[in-house]
Amino acid sequence: MRLDTEKLRAYYSDAPEDISLGDIDLDRIPAHVSIIMDGNGRWATARGLDRSRGHVAGVDSLREAVTTSVRLGLDALSVYAFSTENWRRPQHEVDLLMHLFATTLVKELPLFHQENVRLRFLGDIDALPERTRTVFQRGLDETADHDGMTFALAVNYGSRAEIARAARQIALEAAQGLIDPAGVDERAVSERLYTAGLPDPDLLIRTSGEMRLSNYLLWQLAYTEFYVTPTLWPDFDRWEFLRAVAAFQGRSRRFGGVVAS
Ligand code: FPP
Repeated sequence: MRLDTEKLRAYYSDAPEDISLGDIDLDRIPAHVSIIMDGNGRWATARGLDRSRGHVAGVDSLREAVTTSVRLGLDALSVYAFSTENWRRPQHEVDLLMHLFATTLVKELPLFHQENVRLRFLGDIDALPERTRTVFQRGLDETADHDGMTFALAVNYGSRAEIARAARQIALEAAQGLIDPAGVDERAVSERLYTAGLPDPDLLIRTSGEMRLSNYLLWQLAYTEFYVTPTLWPDFDRWEFLRAVAAFQGRSRRFGGVVAS
């Protein structure tokens, strides 16, 4: 946790009526927040716009979410940008998203440098169009030495595929005599997931009111607190983020045990 309280207070001035920075405990900020960004299409349709305009507006929300996470001193922010099922969308929408991922990443690299953010990807990025892949690799290379917050972008990600991939890897290593099958434990699985080395999310935010996981981080979310807001992703701002953190801090996390008295 890296908190610059002066910057944080300036960032969170002009508070709306229902929430302010004073409503959260700065000593209990979640280390890893994960977001299912949903509702871009509905946001655009409600305004008589093409769905693509919703995705473009969603980029602004994502930039704000990254900045907010840095200001709050998170160790990691992860977001679900494109699932293995999203290939079923109309081709022009898939093309637009791939284009947006690449152009946004190039555009936001200065922000990552300025804020010392390290980028990583969750998912099978080898299967992405070449330009997107090339830009992603550039993002990885250029931020590899940053030791501030980790920003993990889930693209072409599916949790079941991720777990199957880890199982395949373990089976292969066992067949080669590199590991003992009897010694395969939870840690062995975790270490072979795309999220290896990241703490499990403390808080999962889903926008647009949907109450499902959509094949996202099934293993990693075992003890995560969920926060679902009806707000559509393009309308999700730093104050919405703060409301989610305040709700998180109001929960009692027991990890299957009982509350210490
Ligand atoms: C969900 O809204 C959103 C997505 C599938 C794409 C997320 C992409 C962005 C936020 C754009 C920018 C991202 C990056 C990484 C640059 P939806 O289309 O499912 O909305 P709907 O449920 O209302 O149809």
